[in-house]
Amino acid sequence: MLDILKIRKDTPHCEDRIFLNSAGSSLMPLPVVDRMKNYLDEESKHGGYKLYDLYVDEIKEFYTEVAKLLNCQTRNVAFAFNATDAFAQALYAIPFEKGDIIITTDDDYVSNHIQFYALYKRFAVQTIRVNNLENGSIDLTHLERLIKEHRPKLISVTHVPTNTGKVQDVESVGRLCAQNDVLYMVDACQSVGQMPVDVEKIKCDFLCVTGRKFLRGPRGTGFLFVSDRVLQRGLYPLRLDGWSANWVAPNRFEFHASAQRYEVYEQSYACTLGLKEAVKYANQIGLDNIYVYNQTLLHRLTSTLAQQEDILFLDRGEKMVNIFTFQKKGVSKENLENALAKHNVYFSTASRGSALIDFDKKGVDWAIRLSPHYFNTMEEMDRVAEIIASI
Ligand SMILES: Cc1ncc(COP(=O)(O)O)c(C=O)c1O
Repeated sequence: MLDILKIRKDTPHCEDRIFLNSAGSSLMPLPVVDRMKNYLDEESKHGGYKLYDLYVDEIKEFYTEVAKLLNCQTRNVAFAFNATDAFAQALYAIPFEKGDIIITTDDDYVSNHIQFYALYKRFAVQTIRVNNLENGSIDLTHLERLIKEHRPKLISVTHVPTNTGKVQDVESVGRLCAQNDVLYMVDACQSVGQMPVDVEKIKCDFLCVTGRKFLRGPRGTGFLFVSDRVLQRGLYPLRLDGWSANWVAPNRFEFHASAQRYEVYEQSYACTLGLKEAVKYANQIGLDNIYVYNQTLLHRLTSTLAQQEDILFLDRGEKMVNIFTFQKKGVSKENLENALAKHNVYFSTASRGSALIDFDKKGVDWAIRLSPHYFNTMEEMDRVAEIIASI
C-alpha cells in the first residue's frame, strides 16, 4: 500500500541511521523542509507582512488539511505552537470555580497532570483519576460512576501516552461525556499522524496536537480542535489578543466566531506552511495506510524481541501503536543507551518523571522508547533486534 521507496527518498537521512524517535521529534519529509526554506528566502526579500499577503491563500490551506485529517470543519481548527500550548489554551477557556472536578487517567501526560495540580493550588479545582482495568484499559464502569457522583466540569484523556503505545478508548469516553454533558479534552499528541483520528467519532470538545512527532512537521508547531458546541457556548481562552478578539469599545471585545479565538497574532508562517505540508503529506499517504504499515513494523519488532528471554516488555494495553518501551534484564540504562547510540539507532529514554504513576505501577524508573514510523523498514526492525541481542 505504501510507496516506501518514494517515502524514503523524501526522507534522505533515514538512510544513514536507524531513526526510531518519531514519538520525540521525527524526520521531516523534503516537501516540508523545502517549503519552509523557500518561504524564509522570500521573507528575507519582502519582510513578513508583505509575504503573508502574498501567501494568505496558501496559509489557509493549513486549516483545510487539518480539517481533512481530523474530520471537522476549518472553523474548528486553531494553530498552536505545540501540544502544551493547545492544551493550555483549551484548559484556561473553561470557567473553573472553586471545588470543580476534573477527571483524568493515570496515564495522562505529565504536563497535563502538573497543570491540573496548579489549578488545585490556585483555585481549589480537584482532580480525580479513573481506575484502569487489569489489561491497562480505562475502567469505563468506574468512569460512569465517577461522573454520576462528582458531576465533573472536564474529562481529559491522553489518547496515546508518551511512555507507552497503549491506545485509550477515547470513543467510549466520548460517549459517556456526551450522555452526561461533560466537557471533553483529548490529548492526541502521540496518536495523530500514526493512526486515523476522527473528532466526530470521538465526540470531543478539544483535541490537542503537536507538529513535530508522528506528523513529521517542524518544531514549534501544533494545533487545537475546538468543537462547535464550545464555540457556540462562547468559551474563550484567557490569553487573547487583537487577532483572537476585536476590541470594539474601551471595555468591550468581541472574540472570533471560529477557533481563531484560540490563536494569537504572531506566528512563523514558514513553520505554519511547513506543518501544512506535513499534514498534506500524511493525508496523501492516508492515515489508514500509515496505521496498517506501522502495525506490521511494530509486530515485527516486538515478535523478534520476544524471542530474547531477557527483554522486559513494559507496555500493557489491548490495542497498541508505535511507542514500544523496554528494558533488558541485567543491563543498565547507560549501557543500553550507549550501545544503541554506537550503532546509530535514534531513540529516547523515558524517565519516571514523564510517567510517574505508570512507572511506579510497573516498578521501573526508566525505559528505552523506540518509535518506528512508516519510513522505517522491516529490515531495520530486525537489525535493531539484533543489536539489542548483542548488548
Ligand atoms: C502525550 C503527550 N502530550 C503532550 C505532549 C507535549 O507536547 P509538546 O511538547 O508539543 O507541547 C507530549 C510530548 O511528548 C506527549 O507525549
